[in-house]
Amino acid sequence: MREKVVVFSGAGISAESGLPTFRGADGLWRNHSVYDVATPEAWARDPQLVLDFYNERRQLLRRVQPNAAHRALAALEQYHEVVIVTQNVDDLHERAGSRGVIHLHGELMKARSSERETLVYPLGERDIQLGDLCELGSQLRPHVVWFGESVHNTDQACNHIAQADKLLVVGTSLSVYPAAGFITLAPDKTERYLIAPEVDSLPDGFVWLKGTAAEQIPPLLQSWMN
Ligand code: OAD
Repeated sequence: MREKVVVFSGAGISAESGLPTFRGADGLWRNHSVYDVATPEAWARDPQLVLDFYNERRQLLRRVQPNAAHRALAALEQYHEVVIVTQNVDDLHERAGSRGVIHLHGELMKARSSERETLVYPLGERDIQLGDLCELGSQLRPHVVWFGESVHNTDQACNHIAQADKLLVVGTSLSVYPAAGFITLAPDKTERYLIAPEVDSLPDGFVWLKGTAAEQIPPLLQSWMN
């Protein structure tokens, strides 16, 4: 039977592709202060530092590839309705072939106007430099959500989670709100799985599959394809 599978992903799903997480031993927030690079105040104070941080992350993203977890999720679309609600700003789900990807925290491969947030531009091979302007003449900024800004696509994401037959949470510390709270919207009947190498506390109703995304996702999804 075709079911609705909703995946809620975080930085850990891209770790095996070579992208750092935020809070792990070599996590981005261990080496950078959130307040220096990921807030509207940082952008107002030192836009060059903010652009350098995201330009560097984008250059790394171009060099890495989706891993077995991203690919297995894309393949599952042949068998089930799959919606991926991701906190990640990378495009590895899309590059693996997933079509239903909802980004809560923005997209690294896009720029947007710092004056009007609906003016969004794909970057392709380019980075963002000071002096790069939107069509209204204001500086382009990364199309990412900074601390203190509103999460994108909230209603859409919450509606999908509220209708999930299966909810698969993978690669997230569930420590950033409001996004982390969305998983509580799944109804009682939803089957829930959490994939992570370690967990501090398992959210209610979840089965923990201990291991990495690339180890655990392909066999789990294979069992859903039969
Ligand atoms: P975190 O760095 O907080 O958490 C990553 C999680 O992935 C941890 O629970 C790890 O145990 C787990 N993990 C590590 N390697 C893994 C692997 N190979 N397979 C599976 N799991 C693995 O990252 P997020 O939860 O995504 O927001 O962080 C949430 C938000 O905090 C991000 O979207 C970002 C950040 O500040 C913004 O920038 C707005």
